Formats: sequence, C-alpha cells, structure tokens
Amino acid sequence: MNHNENQLQEPTKSSGIRKFFHLPAILKIDFDKPVPFKQQFAIMGTVLVISCLLFTVVYMQQLLSGNVMTDEEKAKAAAPASASEQGSNKNTENSIKETSQKPEKRVTKISSANKAILKEMTTVLKNQDDVYTGPLILVNKNYPSRLDGENVQLLFEEMTDDYILSDYTVGIDKDSVEPFNRMMNDFASIYGKTDIMVACGYRSRETQEELMSTEEANDEQADQWVAPPGYSEHQTGLSFDLDLNLFDGGKAGINYDGEGDYSWINNNCGQYGFILRYRENREDITGYLYEPWHFRYVGLPHAQYIEDHDITLEEYMALLHTHTIENAILMEDHDGTQWCIYYVPADEDGETNVPVPKNYSFEISGDNMVNDSTEGYGGYIVTVMLGSEEETGIKMKEESVEIEYSVNDESSTDEESFDNTEESAIYYENDEETAYNYDEETDYSEEYAYNDEDYEYE
Ligand code: DAL
Ligand code: ZN
Repeated sequence: MNHNENQLQEPTKSSGIRKFFHLPAILKIDFDKPVPFKQQFAIMGTVLVISCLLFTVVYMQQLLSGNVMTDEEKAKAAAPASASEQGSNKNTENSIKETSQKPEKRVTKISSANKAILKEMTTVLKNQDDVYTGPLILVNKNYPSRLDGENVQLLFEEMTDDYILSDYTVGIDKDSVEPFNRMMNDFASIYGKTDIMVACGYRSRETQEELMSTEEANDEQADQWVAPPGYSEHQTGLSFDLDLNLFDGGKAGINYDGEGDYSWINNNCGQYGFILRYRENREDITGYLYEPWHFRYVGLPHAQYIEDHDITLEEYMALLHTHTIENAILMEDHDGTQWCIYYVPADEDGETNVPVPKNYSFEISGDNMVNDSTEGYGGYIVTVMLGSEEETGIKMKEESVEIEYSVNDESSTDEESFDNTEESAIYYENDEETAYNYDEETDYSEEYAYNDEDYEYE
C-alpha cells in the first residue's frame, strides 16, 4: 500500500462533513512528497473559484442593501459637495482642476408649479414679528435688520481645525454653523489649507455704529462699503467676513480676495447654502461695492439658484414675490431633489395663516421687506422639499421664469432688458412696474427712528 492510498483511506473513518471538507484527500495530495504540478494547478483553481464565489456573494449583498453606487451616483459623489464624504483627498491634481472652476448650473431646471402638486395642505399661523426673521430676510439700505443676535451661536463652541477665528466672540446664525463647517472641511480637504480666518460674523447695532463713525472719519466713501447702523446684514448673524491668517500676532485686515485656491469657496459656497452677497458690478442693486469676503446664509436651494444665475438677493426676492402658491416655482437641483417655493403676503392684522403642505417638510422664512414707504406688510417664503423625481412623479419642464427687477437709479438712463440665463430669467431696468425699488435718496435716520418705535423686542 503506498502512501497515497493511506491518505485516501483516512477520510473514510471521518464524519461526513469532515470528509467533505478534507481537501488533501479530495485533491489526492500527499504532503510528504513534492506536490505534482497537476495538483498545484488544482489547488490554485479551487482557491480562485472559492474567491470568485465569495466576492459574488458579498457584491450581491451590497447591491441588495443599496450600498453599491450606480454610475450616476458615482458622478454625484465626485462633485465638490461630497469632498468630505469621500474622505480626505488632499491636493489631488484632478480635484483642484475640477473645483477651481465656476461649477456648471446646479439648479438644473426651473418651472412654474401648480397648486395641485401640494395636495394636502394645512396652515401655520405667523405673526408680524415672523416677517423679520428667517434665512431669506432681505436686509439692505432700504430694509433694516430687526434682529440683533437672537439666533446667533458662538462659533468657538462648534469650530473645527479647518479655520481660525479673529477672536472668541465671533458668532454666526445657528443654522449656518453646520454647513459652514462642512464647507471649510471640504476646502481644507481639497487644498490642504487651514488659514482661513472668520474675521467677523454677528455685529450689534452699536458695533456697526462705532465702525461707521471710525470709517467715515477716514473715508469719504465709507457708505459704499459700511452699512448704516441698523441696516447691516451682520446684525442678523446670517453674514460673515472671511480673512486670511497671514500675520503672526499682527493685526489682520481684509486679505481675503476669493482668488486662487480660495476661489473654490466663492465658486462653491452656493451648494452649502451661502451666497456672495455683494457681487462685482452690482453696486446699483445692492448699494455696496464688491466684497469678495462677505458671505450670507440663505439656505438651499436658494443659494444654489442665486450663485448659479449670478444674481443678487434683491433680484431673487423680486423673483419669488411674483410666485404665490397658485404659480409656485419648482426647482430641481443637481442632486435631482425637487423643491417647491412660493410667496405668501402677510395679512394686514399682523396674523397670517401661511398655507403649508401636510406631507412634505418645509421651511418658512420672513422676507423683512417692510419699511415706512412699502404698502404691504412684508411676507413669507415657503420652501418645500418635495423629493426626487421618482418620489414625486413630477417631470420638470425647462420653462422660462421671469424675474422682473427694477432699479430706480437716476444715474442710469438706459432701459435695458436682457436674457441672463438658460431659463430666460428676464431683468428689467427702469421698468415702471417696479418689483423692487432701491431708492438711493433714502433718509436712513428717519427709517431708523421708525424702527426704534416699532421694535419693542430689541
Ligand atoms: N460691509 C457691509 C455692507 C456691512 O457693513 O454690513
Ligand atoms: Zn461683511
């Protein structure tokens, strides 16, 4: 009896299971002798087949549990928005090249919706004070901030290693902290830079007053870049200024120009809910010179729309005002999420029943568009998150939505209308049917007095 036969006999004494898994026996291997090539081949083949089977089982499991990305999902994951989700991918050539460009439009489609989309409705009761709060409030030389630090969170308590603060008192709106940290984390992950400094967030009316008097003493044109006390967005906490930590112990000024690597922030802030508030060459609309360092939180999908279409908040609010619930705006963003947005004017008696959907999540923001020369009482913007096309069954059409925006600027005599976007948003200058008036002659001291009388909660 040779050695091989001995090895073959042994399994017959074992249990059935043991026999089944007795590989040397099955493969007729005698480990005391050099393993012939045929058997080596058989072993490798068996290992290969088992590996393939294991891989297939694991892959099928992942596929069934939805963890495997489709091509479309992979493309989305590669977008700058998900840089932090992908883990740190510092300084790769590709990501820098991709992201330093102004991204393509992220709000891909926009059309008018009809009320039927929001089938089951209820109402939320709002009072006049609610008009003055929310991420979409318009604060400019015409509309003062009625907020003064109410919803502000000290950034120091939530900050990450991706940026620094000019001092421990810097605070921003609570709802903007998480998206801000995410944006800074994505920027640091892509560029490996952590030298951004948040120079200023919330500023009280008193601080703004001090700033204005200091700057006025030094600069005749201070009013073109410093807001009158009570009229600064900084008073809402929804805005912040970025700077760079270029100095060791020295006093940093405004060094942030949004250029070079930092242009990534200015080009991508929209997908985090932030806008560049004072855009280049829009002084006649915003009332201020270009400020590449001043960001404002408005939330999604509004920030994406504003950034993608390179418009001002003034123009965007004018657009929203023309869309009450009967012809609400539908937007589909780059993630394929569909949103329905509509405007509800505030009622005269100060109490407004704002219609809202029962079956969708929504956010209501005041517009703050009330002053002593406006006829109405301001209003509310309702932002409804509908879901994906599969969930809603809504096939979005690329329809034109008109933005009527008018500037009463004496210095400009050109009557101009131009098609600014693929969706044919139309802007009019010097149009009699004014959707929004920016009156350069406003006497701020009078409005200021009006506000003092009207705001008991300050
Ligand atoms: N620099 C901006 C306009 C402000 O003072 O609020
Ligand atoms: Zn600022």
